[in-house]
Amino acid sequence: MEKLRVPDNEEAYCRYPEQSIYEFTPLPYNLIPSASQEDVRDPPDFIASAVRKAKDTKVNPLCTWLGEPPIYVNTGLMLPGQAYKDIELKGYVAPPPLGELLGCDLTILEQINPNGNHAMFRVRVGSEERLLKTFLDDSDYDDDDDETESTMDQFLAERDAYAHLIHYGACDAGVVPRCYGWLRLSKEVTDFVAGHSSYRCWGPFIRRQPLGILLEYFPDTSCVSFNNITFALAQTAMKAMCRIHQAYVLHGDLASRNCLLLPSGRIVWVDFDHSSNPSSKKPVKRLELWLEIAQAWGLFYGCLVSDLSINQRNLTLINTFGSQLPDMRIGYQSRSY
Ligand SMILES: Nc1ncnc2c1ncn2[C@@H]1O[C@H](COP(=O)(O)OP(=O)(O)O)[C@@H](O)[C@H]1O
Ligand SMILES: [Mg+2]
Repeated sequence: MEKLRVPDNEEAYCRYPEQSIYEFTPLPYNLIPSASQEDVRDPPDFIASAVRKAKDTKVNPLCTWLGEPPIYVNTGLMLPGQAYKDIELKGYVAPPPLGELLGCDLTILEQINPNGNHAMFRVRVGSEERLLKTFLDDSDYDDDDDETESTMDQFLAERDAYAHLIHYGACDAGVVPRCYGWLRLSKEVTDFVAGHSSYRCWGPFIRRQPLGILLEYFPDTSCVSFNNITFALAQTAMKAMCRIHQAYVLHGDLASRNCLLLPSGRIVWVDFDHSSNPSSKKPVKRLELWLEIAQAWGLFYGCLVSDLSINQRNLTLINTFGSQLPDMRIGYQSRSY
């Protein structure tokens, strides 16, 4: 087993994402960190000093506890002016566009994210409950800043991601919600959204009809965090991210808040409004997919060590858990959550 260096190891480099790295033989070194330390029982004073260190340095001192990351991505090659030429994603064909839902009769039941970036609602369509993620169409709002991503860009990114995720089977594989299409919001729904809590500011900006994406709704989810992470869940989430990459979609907002844990133990990734694909304005590159999967490993196993916020739970209790990942091991919560 060897650490993978990409794109230097060209043979391996060309195989992902068409082949999941979990199907590589041999498996990349430390892709699945050894769980041999699962039985670790830290004395309370060890935990207390690790927490103190995390507080001082803003880094969990146990972030390397599970060893070296399996993948090294030479990101220097992505800088402008580098002679590096990306290797084409040859198996890619653009999928059919996501369908528009015409005359969709929906009833809003509940807003699920009062403080989120986009108003999201649990809605009823026929006899089914769905999730409606809404987007303001601000495409005619010119703020002279080409760099800022507009809400309309985010809508297009999410819509096109689902076209890929459906076409390449990621929805059927259950690693992302099913998507039923996109829609222009009716006047009633628009008025409701515009008048709702933090979305009052929509009013003056509604020059065009707002848009929505209709998704499968999962009740009782929680985000993956150091409160619930296990080795098994980390591996499931990593494999799910590989599956998304096999749809040629770069998630673009890798964070555990976008990684939902269902009561059944299933993992579902959401939030594709920062995603890209090979047909995007800025087409996704193979190296970026490698980088994202390497970052996912860091998120789960190096565990999220850039910010400081010590969880208030009883550390002794945490310490009796069987399988702990670094943040969970000392009760340290980092920004990526
Ligand atoms: N399909 C879903 N079913 C249930 N809850 C969801 C679903 N999709 C998203 N959520 C919840 O809504 C939150 C915000 O969704 P997300 O797509 O990440 O929006 P934003 O772009 O505003 O971050 C998620 O963190 C999750 O808690
Ligand atoms: Mg999100």
